[in-house]
Amino acid sequence: RFFAGEKKPLAGKRVLVTAGGTVERLDPVRYLTNDSSGKMGYAIAEEAVRMGAQVTLVSGPTALSAPAGAQLVRVQSALDMREAVLSRLDAQDVVVKAAAVADYRPAEAATQKIKKKADTLTLQLVKNPDILQEIGTLKTHQFVIGFAAETENLDDYAMDKLNRKNCDLIVGNDVSQAGAGFGTDTNIVRIYDRSGLVQALSLRSKSEVARELLQLAAQRLISVGD
Ligand code: CTP
Ligand code: CA
Repeated sequence: RFFAGEKKPLAGKRVLVTAGGTVERLDPVRYLTNDSSGKMGYAIAEEAVRMGAQVTLVSGPTALSAPAGAQLVRVQSALDMREAVLSRLDAQDVVVKAAAVADYRPAEAATQKIKKKADTLTLQLVKNPDILQEIGTLKTHQFVIGFAAETENLDDYAMDKLNRKNCDLIVGNDVSQAGAGFGTDTNIVRIYDRSGLVQALSLRSKSEVARELLQLAAQRLISVGD
């Protein structure tokens, strides 16, 4: 992919990627989760390794194997993911939050299997912390890339998330389009920075999306730092 002798664009950089969906326990045998396959985040981790970065992949449960050369940290819940990410934040140059973090978790996880009783059962859910928003508040030098999964108003919603969560770039995907979003090997994305749309990528493999995204990040890292 790179010409012989060409410097790898992320050499010497530490990149943390989150991937997959989180699992929120209801009881010892039941949980809430979402359709995230982890493919986008794993593709980013793999490309980051290829570009020379030292990569940590914080992943919810997926069917994928860890990309060679990346350090895999397995987590279950949003709270686990938060801890795994924030405890490693200081050491990172780039953070990419591709994970589909559950917005809510059961107010309590029962220690024993919940027994079948009445005809209806109401679950109380409480909001999970927004990890990306916390990173946006805590970051010092890190280049932060968020994702926005939307089914409508992609440009507006993605820009709103970028601003609220203080990201350097945000990757918007319209998950209602065929070939984009959850579970597929391909994606269709629009990448934004603070001033608006930077790049619109038509249907292509998640590996290609990962490469384009990391190339943008690498260019911007160079223009900020060293
Ligand atoms: N995210 C996060 N922690 C959460 C929820 C989301 O870090 N508790 C991150 C995701 O990893 C992603 C970005 O925030 O990078 C946007 O996630 P998304 O679900 O699209 O946005 P939300 O802010 O959760 O808003 P909504 O689901 O209502 O659209
Ligand atoms: Ca959400």
